[in-house]
Amino acid sequence: MRGDLVYSPLVSLDDLKGMSCGVKVVDEILHSQVLLAGLAEMQCDAYLVHNEDGVLVGFFAINMNRLEFYQDGRYFYHDVLDIAYLAVEKSFQRRGIGTAIINKIIELSEEKNPDGVYISVDALCLPDENYWATPFYEKCGFISIDPPKFDTIRMYRKVHQ
Ligand SMILES: CC(C)(COP(=O)(O)OP(=O)(O)OC[C@H]1O[C@@H](n2cnc3c(N)ncnc32)[C@H](O)[C@@H]1OP(=O)(O)O)[C@@H](O)C(=O)NCCC(=O)NCCS
Repeated sequence: MRGDLVYSPLVSLDDLKGMSCGVKVVDEILHSQVLLAGLAEMQCDAYLVHNEDGVLVGFFAINMNRLEFYQDGRYFYHDVLDIAYLAVEKSFQRRGIGTAIINKIIELSEEKNPDGVYISVDALCLPDENYWATPFYEKCGFISIDPPKFDTIRMYRKVHQ
């Protein structure tokens, strides 16, 4: 990645006009009222990501959520900052933007959930379309906890690794 990314709040669906991450189900949501309804229902903070040339290269939304997992014979429950949506513009993928956004989300977790130990995500898995977001999250240090539920796998990572 060449320069710094600029993060600003999503104001309307028009902000996402023309953006495509190449995964049909995600692109459909990004351009539908369903997105705004989901953001409101889950009480998300949603951000646009522009590059140094002012080009829209990404979008993500985060909210507070509950992480539950079983380890060493015990159940653990944590209040976490969760990634509700994340997409990088197709033509800008594999340039480190997704990783930079995860680092930004870690910063936001420190701010919004100062005692939080983990961040989490339901990572998209679409076997019928031969698409998995899991390799990206694994590369960013996330591990999976549950077997797939429908089209996602629950994953988490420590804020400070
Ligand atoms: C997943 C996504 C956000 C990754 O964004 P990105 O900017 O391409 O990610 P990065 O460039 O930071 O990738 C970092 C590493 O993750 C791994 N990775 C990223 N995309 C991958 C893919 N499609 N297949 C395998 N590994 C991948 C690679 O190891 C990559 O490093 P490398 O390019 O040096 O090999 C982007 O592909 C996307 O928007 N996908 C569609 C929507 C989606 O799945 N969102 C997540 C929903 S939970």
